[in-house]
Amino acid sequence: MHNNHRSVVVLISGNGSNLQALMDFSNAGNYRISGVISNKSDAYGLQRAEQSNIPTTVVDHRQYESRDLFDQALSQAIDEYEPGLIILAGFMRILGADFVKRYQGKILNIHPSLLPDYPGTNTHQRVLDAGEKMHGVSVHFVTEELDGGPVIAQESIAVESSDDAESLATKIHEKEHVLYPTVASWFADGRLRLDGNDAFLDEQLLPETGEQIDAS
Ligand code: GAR
Repeated sequence: MHNNHRSVVVLISGNGSNLQALMDFSNAGNYRISGVISNKSDAYGLQRAEQSNIPTTVVDHRQYESRDLFDQALSQAIDEYEPGLIILAGFMRILGADFVKRYQGKILNIHPSLLPDYPGTNTHQRVLDAGEKMHGVSVHFVTEELDGGPVIAQESIAVESSDDAESLATKIHEKEHVLYPTVASWFADGRLRLDGNDAFLDEQLLPETGEQIDAS
């Protein structure tokens, strides 16, 4: 793994609206997206990358007999771009322990809930079913525990009585598209660090729910 914090590889599985936001913001900025990798060849995000002249690689998980073999192929594809940071942006595969260890402190994920609440999938519907008043989005360091790595930053939204899973997804996406490029820039500027299970921003230990962003 390279020490160049500013070189980023983005991993996707689908639409790639977060990838788009990361690409748009990088024009202004302090990190460079060296490559985009998808485990699905028909992910729309691949077209977004190509439109921005960013190289892409497909590593199709169905072509590997085990998670280990898939992870190895993924590592190889990542290392070819020599990144200092791996950003998971709607990447819907679980990564094995060896993979996570190899890139310790250099993988970020965005998750559509206020972690540690609602890890896993289908978060919007689960939040509605539970009658929650608040929902939100978290960016966290990836560790071996699924959706369990230390939270770096979080932004909340109110759940209205008129909301359904789709309207919540739309609201969450709006927040994600600002939050993720912001956190990527923190990393690129060397302001973020993972130590064991603790995340530090500017050498300050972050609380369990990360930095609370209030963009409203
Ligand atoms: C985002 O909402 C992201 O938080 C979620 O997938 C969506 C991808 O959208 N990620 C997860 O659920 C990870 N467990 P995008 O492809 O348009 O960026």
